[in-house]
Formats: sequence, structure tokens, C-alpha cells
Amino acid sequence: MSIPMRSWTPTHGAPYRPVPYRPDRMPPQETLARAAELRERMSARRTVRQFAPDPVPEQAVRDAIACAATAPSGAHQQPWSFVRIKDAGMRRRIREAAEAEERVSYQGRLGEEWLAALRPLGTDEIKAHLTDAPELIVVFQQRYWLGPDGERRKHYYVDESVGIAVGMLLSALHLCGLAALVHTPSPMRFLSEVLGRPENEKAFAVIPVGYPAEDCVVPDLVRKSLPQVLTEI
Ligand SMILES: Cc1cc2nc3c(=O)[nH]c(=O)nc-3n(C[C@H](O)[C@H](O)[C@H](O)COP(=O)(O)O)c2cc1C
Repeated sequence: MSIPMRSWTPTHGAPYRPVPYRPDRMPPQETLARAAELRERMSARRTVRQFAPDPVPEQAVRDAIACAATAPSGAHQQPWSFVRIKDAGMRRRIREAAEAEERVSYQGRLGEEWLAALRPLGTDEIKAHLTDAPELIVVFQQRYWLGPDGERRKHYYVDESVGIAVGMLLSALHLCGLAALVHTPSPMRFLSEVLGRPENEKAFAVIPVGYPAEDCVVPDLVRKSLPQVLTEI
């Protein structure tokens, strides 16, 4: 396995420097077999909200975050950072702060239309997954680059880039047998405060990671079929 070891430094304004890229081409039969297998494995992914307390293999989560950090990003600005929290006290603090926001949300801030959209999911203001899951990954988006002397540079397509990275993170976790949930308590400002993040970062999602509880249930959802989502021209 070859993982590049050069360390990243900002490339803003650097000249274009192309290097050869010659990955082995996969035979079509293998591409087809892998695509079919991946489709089946990905369709088995479900959002889990009831976690077993069992710890997850230490390095697997690091590897999944490393996968996420290979995501494409606008102007290769990689506007993300990941905070991994195993500490029970910190998970409890996050749960308390999240539930305080969620109480206000579910008691009216969300509005009837939003509450109706959530009803089939069975969610409420109790967020036990924040303390039941053995760890949380909090994903932050960097709204702009902040240099060591406080210099700022605009980041482009931040939402899109971080969304793609989170998609890759969820795929990586699922494909190595771990369950996860994208939790977006709204508003999420408390996460920057509790975790002491720099001013250029804004929380994007809290992702509990673990194994489903033995009595885990999920809502009976149906996904759109391929013809419903795909137009081929
Ligand atoms: C951007 C985003 C925000 C989400 N926020 C929450 C959340 O705050 N709480 C929650 O329980 N689920 C949340 N979810 C999970 C969705 O409800 C879930 O993905 C959806 O119901 C489909 O279920 P599935 O992931 O099992 O296919 C979120 C998902 C996404 C992509």
C-alpha cells in the first residue's frame, strides 16, 4: 500500500506543476462485479440512532477519517476538520447542550412543516446516541483559511466540499462494518464553544459511531428507485 507521506502546506498562488497519473485500468468485468457488490453493500447502510456501548476498533475510525480527507474540494482547499471524541464527560456535555437546543426546536422552533417531515423518523429531543455511542466525530467546515498571523483567505464551495467528505466518511465507516448517524442539532454554535475551535470553523454535523444496539430499530423507509433518480441522455 502506498500512502503519500508529503505533508500539506498552503498552495495559494503556487505555479501549476503537473505530475503523471497512471492508475492501472480495471478490466470491465471486474468493474461490473465491484459496482454490483458495492451497490448491494451500500443499500444495506442505515442511519442508526440506538448504539451498543462497545468500543470500535481504534485505527478503523482514523482510517475512515483519512478516507474522508481524500475528498475532492473546491480549489483543493480541504475546508474541513474532524474532532473525534471518546471522552464520556465531553460526550455528556455535548448531549446536554444538544438536547437543550433540540427541546426548543421540537417544542416549536422547527415549525409544523419541518416537524411533519421528521415524524416518519420517530425522532424527538432525547439524543441518547450522543452518550450511548462509544465515540463521536464532530465535523467542522472552515469558512475561510486562517493563517498563523490571523491572515484570512476565502474558501470556495465549502458546503459542497464538506458534504462530499462526510459522504465518503459515512461510506468508509459502513463498509468497514461500523454504524453512524449524521446528527445536526440546530443551531450548532455550542459545539465550537464546547470544543474550543478556532473562529474560522463552523460545526457541520455530529456523527456518533459504533455498533447498533441489540434491540436497534430503524424507520421503515423506502428509497427512491434508480429510474426515479436517474435521467440518462
Ligand atoms: C444533512 C443531514 C442531516 C441529518 N440530521 C439528522 C439529525 O439531526 N437527527 C437525526 O436523527 N437524523 C439526521 N439525519 C439522518 C437522516 O434522517 C437519515 O439519513 C434519513 O432519514 C435516511 O435514512 P437512512 O440514512 O437510514 O437511509 C441527517 C441526515 C443528513 C444527510
